[in-house]
Amino acid sequence: MQKSQRMKELSSAIFSEMNVRKQQVEARNIKVINLGIGSPDRSPAPHIIEAMHRALDKAGNYTYPITGKPELHQALADWYLKRFGVYLDPRNEVLVLMGSQDGLGHIALAYIDPGDIALVPDPGYPIYSASILLAQGKVYPMPLLAENKFLPDLSAIPADVAQRAKLMWLNYPNNPVAAVADRSFFEQVVDFAKKNNILVCHDVAYSELAYDGYKPISFLEVPGAKEVGIEFYSVSKTYSMAGCRCGFAVGNAEVLSSLATIKSNIDYGVFSVVQEGAVAALTGSQDCVVENARIYQQRRDVLVDGLASLGWKMPKPRASMFVWAPIPKGYTSSYQFAIELLEKTGVLVIPGVAFGEQGEGYVRIALVQPEEQLKEALERIKNNFVFN
Ligand SMILES: Cc1ncc(COP(=O)(O)O)c(C=O)c1O
Repeated sequence: MQKSQRMKELSSAIFSEMNVRKQQVEARNIKVINLGIGSPDRSPAPHIIEAMHRALDKAGNYTYPITGKPELHQALADWYLKRFGVYLDPRNEVLVLMGSQDGLGHIALAYIDPGDIALVPDPGYPIYSASILLAQGKVYPMPLLAENKFLPDLSAIPADVAQRAKLMWLNYPNNPVAAVADRSFFEQVVDFAKKNNILVCHDVAYSELAYDGYKPISFLEVPGAKEVGIEFYSVSKTYSMAGCRCGFAVGNAEVLSSLATIKSNIDYGVFSVVQEGAVAALTGSQDCVVENARIYQQRRDVLVDGLASLGWKMPKPRASMFVWAPIPKGYTSSYQFAIELLEKTGVLVIPGVAFGEQGEGYVRIALVQPEEQLKEALERIKNNFVFN
């Protein structure tokens, strides 16, 4: 059977290669410390799990949910107002998704025709370019460089590309580079999008994993943002509910309606029990969110300080669940370094180049293991590597 052309362009071969290498290391009876995947290892707070237990007993919760429950729309709108000061009309400025990934993957089908250009961060979370390729659009990479604080340089985008582009992906706090964006950057984005008639899709999945008192902002806080864009949010990272599959698109009502139309042809919504869990998460005590961020911050400190003491230095991220680490001196390939690290120590990190060409020279380390595992990783690295 002949696969479609688009299959060739999807999913970086590096992810599958790392997986094969991981299995080989495991076959040598080495326990792999997986700092590769971005999946939270913690559980939701007890009040969220209890709400889902109660929801399981309701007979009405087993039909096709089709759309989001009104109380979930309201809960998310209330949360946005409280957290960001952003007013959302719960009726048409909130769309419930089967995890934000659902919307990230499908929005391009509503706005991109074959050959259309989309502006995509490089490096970037893989779904941004995959969604454009699935819609047969063309990816125009926006390099995220250390010298620009990992923000795209909008002035470097040629005028003809900007004018032809239909969609721009953004993601702050960022995966994989762990950078953050401030209000003035988002203001520039709104101006740029208005001038060039571009739909901005901002992914704010990591807004609540922020450290040292820093509070990431929503793109929608900037005046005019709702006219040009939407934002994707998720309960996955904030409340450690990644397996539940519930997220949101919020903002421009017309864009959300288009995304809803695409989705209505594909899926039947988020399991009602999960929706009730999300309501409990958004409306209940937020102590678990503070505790979650505290734990990730502590992991960040253990890892970054520990590696620095071994001679491998990297900046401490202000947000996200990742450390974006320049590969140690003496290495030229992020892939080679990640393989050597895995094979010598059983510590799995992702080569930056898996997220795009500009990711070369870095590895992404996910803070998804408890402190003891991170300390074990440090010990193994100490015993096998000398950094200078
Ligand atoms: C930047 C970013 N956005 C979205 C997602 C997917 O989140 P969800 O679980 O809501 O689909 C991830 C998951 O790793 C992510 O890193």
